[in-house]
Amino acid sequence: MMLETQPASAPLQGEVTPPGDKSISHRALIFSCLAEGESRVTGLLQSEDVKATEKACVQLGMGVRRQGQTLFLQGVGSRGLSAPGAPLDMGNSGTAMRLLAGVLAAQPFDSVLFGDESLNQRPMTRIVKPLTLMGATIETGKNGTPPLRIAGTSALHGIDYESPIASAQVKSCVLLAGLYADGQTTVSEPLLSRDHTEQMLPAFGAELVGPCGVAGGTRLTAATVHVPADISSAAFFMVAATLVPGSELLLRNVGLNRTRDGIVQVLREMGADLTVHDLRRQGGEQVGDIRIRCARRLRGIDIPEEWVPSLIDEVPVIMALAAVSEGTTRIRGAAELRVKESDRLDVMAKGLRQLGVQLKEYEDGVDVTGGSVNGGRVDGAGDHRCAMSFAVLGQVASAAVAIEGAEHINTSFPSFVRDLAAVGGCVDER
Ligand code: S3P
Repeated sequence: MMLETQPASAPLQGEVTPPGDKSISHRALIFSCLAEGESRVTGLLQSEDVKATEKACVQLGMGVRRQGQTLFLQGVGSRGLSAPGAPLDMGNSGTAMRLLAGVLAAQPFDSVLFGDESLNQRPMTRIVKPLTLMGATIETGKNGTPPLRIAGTSALHGIDYESPIASAQVKSCVLLAGLYADGQTTVSEPLLSRDHTEQMLPAFGAELVGPCGVAGGTRLTAATVHVPADISSAAFFMVAATLVPGSELLLRNVGLNRTRDGIVQVLREMGADLTVHDLRRQGGEQVGDIRIRCARRLRGIDIPEEWVPSLIDEVPVIMALAAVSEGTTRIRGAAELRVKESDRLDVMAKGLRQLGVQLKEYEDGVDVTGGSVNGGRVDGAGDHRCAMSFAVLGQVASAAVAIEGAEHINTSFPSFVRDLAAVGGCVDER
């Protein structure tokens, strides 16, 4: 699938409620599956990635009933999972694979997890290592990539794991396995990654050990989860409204967890006109409405490395923003971007250069120097966030931008094209 943009001919205006948070949706499904009783989930993201988790949970025994916008999930209890009859397909989703691997490493039956072409190239050693330390037996493909062949065991032991990377997928994987282990399991990381697992576990009746730990044998009980709109999807609209002259958008019910809101800080520092209204708590999470108007002047900034985990998925759209801001934006400490759904630093760098943008690529980041952006043809490389970032930038390019490899926007934001067009954006699917 291809996207084609034209320079926006009028301001973007109106209200958008972006789709449900992807990270929270995966966790709501997995925790509900492991819980005793019926959980209730509203606002769940309906996208390919989340469907992969839902399908796997159903294969493991979870019951799903939909009533309007609410999902009723019948959990099987942590000891009640059934052996899946076939390998579990995680599609494009690293979160699905890494979190479910934590659960499956502790089951008395064998299982196999595989993914699509992109996921099958992503590193799994980062989870296999701590799970092996806990007593699990997992075989990977060569280079530590999927498929994962997990041998059944009921004898994991707790560990204090010092993760070498700030990764919520690693952290959550180890904590989920820790629910089944003997003794306590704790995780520390160099910088705090998104903490949705730690926020949601108590709602399912689990008491945390310290800031990031669980006691083995903890049982989960059914809960109600209201999934807020995904700040990572909202980010495309924040940047689009910031760039297109005269725009004003209201983004409703956006999750503003402090471990995720780096994009808000970056936009403010770069000169965006953004205000948060009606900040409130919804379940364990902070949410608010964001009003964002076109910026008068945008300036490049140095993004502190400590901010990177809180904006890790927003780096592609920040690179697009930097391409039309005065001066240079420097991003470092972002080597993780190279092992996402694509090598995002490379895919964005290639595409931006194609549109005439000046930049320098480093192993762990980029310097993007702002100027004007030409039309042209770019490759989204099957990466949803890169494709959407180019579509946003296309709104202020001097001519049409054709974006190839955009089919995977369905993994996180199936209504992106419709939603952007509905507020006045010029984008089409081909
Ligand atoms: C996620 C964690 C992040 C993020 C991904 C979702 C999660 O990945 O990039 O989109 O839901 O835990 P890492 O844990 O690999 O940093």
